[in-house]
Amino acid sequence: MHSQTFDDIKQKDIFVRKGEMRRILIINGPNLNMLGTRQPEIYGRETLADIENACRNKAAGLGVEIECFQSNGEGEIVTAIQRARGKFDAIVINPAAYSHTSVAIMDALLAYDGTVIEVHLSNIHRRDEFRRLSYVSKAADGVICGLGKQGYLLAVEAAASLIDRE
Ligand code: DQA
Repeated sequence: MHSQTFDDIKQKDIFVRKGEMRRILIINGPNLNMLGTRQPEIYGRETLADIENACRNKAAGLGVEIECFQSNGEGEIVTAIQRARGKFDAIVINPAAYSHTSVAIMDALLAYDGTVIEVHLSNIHRRDEFRRLSYVSKAADGVICGLGKQGYLLAVEAAASLIDRE
């Protein structure tokens, strides 16, 4: 066996780090902390904690680590995305109303180096016209909408399998 070159070591290091990581960050935007009581006819009766717990169970079954973050502030979401670089292999994000307005969140996601899956509880294409445009979709590898909590679980599953393919 030849002695290891710098490239061999670099390759090994990348491989080991990849093997260790498999981490997904779940980000929920404004007003999603109100789930359960907020327009339940549209968003259902489950709370954000219910959804996050279901995602944790799903992730545990897939052998993936997840962290959950919710904020009503655009800047805080941008900062969370910036900090995810190098720490999380994928981001699952429901940017809520910021989907339709935030160039800043779209730009932060475009600068992020991992997989991005966008989720919406409701079918944004069946509602008000202004909800049909999501700036965030321009930075997403995949988009799931209209499936309620199930959409988050599918997003975690998709993110985990996309990470494995990398
Ligand atoms: C939402 C859809 C958005 O249009 C809305 O502003 C939300 C939630 C959804 O999950 O269906 O707050 O992202």
